Amino acid sequence: MTFDFDSAIERRGTDSEKWQKYAGRDILPLWVADMDFKTSPAIIAALQERVATGLFGYSRPVKSTVDAFVDAAEQRYGWKIDPAWIVWLPGLVVGLNLTAQAFAQPGEEILTLTPVYPPFMSAPKNSGRISTQVPFRLDATNNRWELDWDALEKAVTPKTKLFYLCNPHNPIARVWRRDELVKLGEFCVRHNLLLCSDEIHCDLILDDLPHIPTALLGEEVAQRTITLMAPSKTYNIPGLGTSLAIIPEAKLRAQFVRAGAGVMAEVNALGYVACEAAYRDSEPWRQALLGCLRGNRAFLLDFVARELPGVISAAPIEATYLAWLNVSALKLPDPIAHFEAHGVGLSDGAFYGVPRGACVRLNFGCPRATLTEALQRMKRALAAR
Ligand SMILES: Cc1ncc(COP(=O)(O)O)c(C=O)c1O
Repeated sequence: MTFDFDSAIERRGTDSEKWQKYAGRDILPLWVADMDFKTSPAIIAALQERVATGLFGYSRPVKSTVDAFVDAAEQRYGWKIDPAWIVWLPGLVVGLNLTAQAFAQPGEEILTLTPVYPPFMSAPKNSGRISTQVPFRLDATNNRWELDWDALEKAVTPKTKLFYLCNPHNPIARVWRRDELVKLGEFCVRHNLLLCSDEIHCDLILDDLPHIPTALLGEEVAQRTITLMAPSKTYNIPGLGTSLAIIPEAKLRAQFVRAGAGVMAEVNALGYVACEAAYRDSEPWRQALLGCLRGNRAFLLDFVARELPGVISAAPIEATYLAWLNVSALKLPDPIAHFEAHGVGLSDGAFYGVPRGACVRLNFGCPRATLTEALQRMKRALAAR
């Protein structure tokens, strides 16, 4: 079966957050992590069938939905998940916030590595907890982002309770290797930190690398891990608000559920349907998507290297459809405003914890024609400096 990742879909004038941001302006939005592709035909068919029933009462996941996720986790990463460990969530950001509230007291600290997806830094602050950030190091010899272990050790205080990991990492598109995860697990055990592992991008690995769930690093680590997963990024259904927390340790799970009691929304009926069709019936579509994203990645990197002097994609993009571009050599006081003025909407690196003007994030999850036009506009933006 072939799938269409080439046709441009008109999203202007729809409820798309990505496109609404620039309503009425000729700006191609390559910012928020939402792809300009239709979801898989299997998901569309399952949703259509469900909509046709006309039944939208309060919903709970049926066994086939849970099985679809559990089976995929076992087949893809060898992780045997007991369905009792699962807490369904209306979104992963909810999970990050609940984790902060459940496992740290106001004034206590949550460690994370920057640059990082902004809610990793804002979730602690939302409830009076403190976000402690340790920047990655770009290792020039290996051309890889590395954890700065010395800085990490120094950042721990008696008030540090939790570590937020992004695995694979948004925005640096890094897939963590086993030795790195093992070391991180040991670090958390040694400092008695709980480990919250956001694995939303784990089915979007572009290189020939395995996804290693953090909870598979051994019993001691599993017992202190809150893993967050979702079909939303991979299958492009973030608007359906369906995610999962996997918490093997019963007391931690109860604490997490209690933190959300009365405030956490239920997952909606259509979200469960889409989730089941994603994990059970959409593997051919996912493989085709990965092929398309690999092609876009190669095209983007080639274009950046040849046509955008001063823009650097510093390290390999191993996963995700997000490119972290260093634009500091351009010396633009506000690169986002500059690229917007030339018709391209990117994400501002400043929100990810780096100085304003240093980096931008570009979403290449779009038809090649859109990506090509956006890159041509970026080229013109450079010429117009
Ligand atoms: C690492 C990471 N976590 C969470 C989210 C958002 O999750 P949700 O929409 O389920 O709240 C994103 C979205 O880009 C993300 O990149």
